[in-house]
Amino acid sequence: MPDNSKTKPIADRSCLPNHVGIIMDGNGRWAKKRGLPRTAGHAVGVKVFKKIVFYARDMGLKNLTVYAFSTENWKRPESEIDRIMQLLDQMIDEALDDFMNQKVRIRFIGSRERLGKRLLDKMDRVMALTEQFGDTTLYIALNYGGRQEITHAAAALARKCVEGRLSPEDITPELVGKNLYYEDFDSVDLIIRPSGEQRLSNFLLWQSAYAEFWYSDVLWPDFKPEHLERAIYDYQQRNRRFGGI
Ligand code: IPE
Ligand code: IPE
Ligand code: MG
Repeated sequence: MPDNSKTKPIADRSCLPNHVGIIMDGNGRWAKKRGLPRTAGHAVGVKVFKKIVFYARDMGLKNLTVYAFSTENWKRPESEIDRIMQLLDQMIDEALDDFMNQKVRIRFIGSRERLGKRLLDKMDRVMALTEQFGDTTLYIALNYGGRQEITHAAAALARKCVEGRLSPEDITPELVGKNLYYEDFDSVDLIIRPSGEQRLSNFLLWQSAYAEFWYSDVLWPDFKPEHLERAIYDYQQRNRRFGGI
């Protein structure tokens, strides 16, 4: 038997998870460890984000959601929030050509409330320019909260009931799923969280009902393509039963 213990696992491209979510966490601690301001960690985090997105696309991953900013992250100091928004704005400018060349469809999920007009216009533009691409879709969860997303679906269904276009008895889990931010995104297969935390922090609550979880102590700015390989490889060794036997 060959000794494979030191070889890096390579995920099987023929049975990739349909949808992977990543909670990009640990930027602040990465910076603190180096005596740098937290925002320096966010700047490196954006670079890592781009690298991982294009690696995932090259792997042939169909859907990837990255958690960039939560509805709870508004609790942070204004200067940190401003810098994160600025970095996201810059990221769109810098990566747009690559998204177009690599045919990556970009969709933002989250609330538009509190986001600046300049950033919103840019988000709309990148979504319109890349909507035609279908091989890889990157969902960027920005000002996103899972509870808010479910609330948004509940409100949409309530509105239809009030207007007489739907009756409450006809509301099924499938219908709730179709009323989330994107009707074709109602489940995620694998959620990756670096940084040592083992919680969802309001990420994809509905979609993660049967998700597999993969945690690592590595901080997001140190996250490498090999961690993504490892996470997907580990996922492929698991037995998902969805309540069956
Ligand atoms: C994740 O890193 C980025 C955002 C939440 C925007 P953090 O900023 O949460 O980094 P830690 O968890 O404080 O190290
Ligand atoms: C989750 O990380 C949000 C993002 C990575 C964008 P947080 O750092 O905000 O989560 P908590 O506060 O540790 O739960
Ligand atoms: Mg954090």
